[in-house]
Amino acid sequence: MATQLPRLLPLLLFLPFFHIAASTSPSGLHPVVLLPDTTCSQLEARLTDAYVPPTPQCAARHKDAGGRWFRLWKNTTELDDPAVAPCVADQLRLVFDHVAGDYRDVPGVETRVLHFGSTRGFLADEPADRSARAATRSPTLIIIVKSSHGLYMSRNRCMGRLVEALEEVGYRHGENLFGAPYDFRQSPAALGQPCRAFSRYRQRLRALVEHASSANGDRPVVLVSHSEGGYFALEFLNRSPLPWRRRHIKHFSIKIAGMYHAGVISDGVALERLISEILRESFVQDSKKVDYRRVAQL
Ligand SMILES: *[C@@H]1O[C@H](CO)[C@@H](O)[C@H](O)[C@H]1NC(C)=O
Repeated sequence: MATQLPRLLPLLLFLPFFHIAASTSPSGLHPVVLLPDTTCSQLEARLTDAYVPPTPQCAARHKDAGGRWFRLWKNTTELDDPAVAPCVADQLRLVFDHVAGDYRDVPGVETRVLHFGSTRGFLADEPADRSARAATRSPTLIIIVKSSHGLYMSRNRCMGRLVEALEEVGYRHGENLFGAPYDFRQSPAALGQPCRAFSRYRQRLRALVEHASSANGDRPVVLVSHSEGGYFALEFLNRSPLPWRRRHIKHFSIKIAGMYHAGVISDGVALERLISEILRESFVQDSKKVDYRRVAQL
């Protein structure tokens, strides 16, 4: 039983959420869309002739690339290599386009989020995710692992344990379980400021939620976010019309809100107030113990 506990823990933590999700719809589960933490969304890039590498060494790395897509984020093999890391950093940069008033990729670098719609791409492929795996074995984290917060954080990195727990209760990838990875460099801009990347993300997430709902007997969707994913989800919800939210969103559940989230709350309809309350609570509790069981009722 002791060895079972870590496996069961995410399930226990989320039990009230499953209860709500399942109890309102005895014939089936509400579809779930997960928004992971910052570093969990994977980015691919390809270079065009317009790209000017910062050094000859960086230029040499891509001389045979031929416009092919490659993993830009996250590849720890490259990030750990002092000769390569500056080349990666250069390609990961965003530049401010004064004409558009918006941030965009460096000229000559095109990027895209890997596996939008799925949770499959949340964690980098081997060997790129070895840092995440190694982290769970580090002495510092073993100490943190002793608290339930840390146990959740390390074992459930990029929502891996949550995905497994959901599968154990009948969720299936692409049927009623979806992922909405995002470009973590392109946080939502303030209202009224252009942010093409986030506008595109909102369109895609909206289409994903509508698809998830219609493919599941029009049952509304449960959005579950972790850390910065909560910021993206919250901004997505805040900028979606209330009738749309009522029709398509069942709950919004936030796991560990970052401190900057408090800044995006605006006064207004009940949803915002409620989420604001939960965020404040999570924020206050973050340093102690987050109550993962809190689920926002829309
Ligand atoms: C990470 O980078 C190494 C070295 O450039 C490369 O061999 C490997 O294929 C990359 N991993 C991924 C997932 O692209």
